[in-house]
Amino acid sequence: MTPTRSPVHEAITSRKSVRAFLPTPIEPALLDELLLAAGMAPSGSNVQPWQVHVVSGAARDRLSAALLAAHEAGHSAEREYQYYPLTWRSPYIERRRATGWGLYNLLGIQKGDREAASRQHGRNYEFFDAPVVLVFTIDKDLQTGSWLDYGMFLQNIMIGARGYGLHTCPQAAIANYPDIVKEHLGIGDDKIIVCDISIGYEDTSQKVNEFQPDRMPLDEFVTYHRD
Ligand SMILES: Cc1cc2nc3c(=O)[nH]c(=O)nc-3n(C[C@H](O)[C@H](O)[C@H](O)COP(=O)(O)O)c2cc1C
Repeated sequence: MTPTRSPVHEAITSRKSVRAFLPTPIEPALLDELLLAAGMAPSGSNVQPWQVHVVSGAARDRLSAALLAAHEAGHSAEREYQYYPLTWRSPYIERRRATGWGLYNLLGIQKGDREAASRQHGRNYEFFDAPVVLVFTIDKDLQTGSWLDYGMFLQNIMIGARGYGLHTCPQAAIANYPDIVKEHLGIGDDKIIVCDISIGYEDTSQKVNEFQPDRMPLDEFVTYHRD
């Protein structure tokens, strides 16, 4: 039996990381509705560990300029949390490479062209031209369980956005420069910058948005226990 495809299924499967947005602004009331709905995410003991800074207009441009300047000056990352494994190994290293090279191949960036790769990485700090950037913080003293809760909130935003015709790109790149983000948004040192989500309307004319990294087939990540 083929299950009926629901609008929820459509919202989940049409989400992708968009890396070129139109300048079209987002209605503030729509953003509030989306964030309020995302806050319906479950969290252990309903602690709701999420805090969001909605950054647009001149504030967005100032933050972008500061981050881009740090990136271009080659300032080294000073992350507050470890996102990736300390030692890359199979099968993760292959997936990571396939994703990186998949994107660069699509954009015609050759192996060894560090300048072009760095320029593309710098697009993170222009928020891929998205008109609105959602910056997420978590209190430093919260534990791993709250980070699990946090992911559900983030995913609610990205899936919920599809219902309004919006697209998103989650970005851990911003967490490379927590001091700059904190200074610009008045965030205290009792918080960790988790990531941001660039949000807006997709620029469908841009090749970069055609990028679709593969996913594992079911038998690679599901184990059935039936008897
Ligand atoms: C928490 C998180 C952080 C990410 N950080 C970045 C980032 O800094 N820059 C970027 O271009 N993509 C970033 N991504 C997007 C991933 O590369 C992307 O989700 C993955 O390749 C799968 O592609 P898809 O989102 O288009 O399905 C991030 C994704 C997640 C979930």
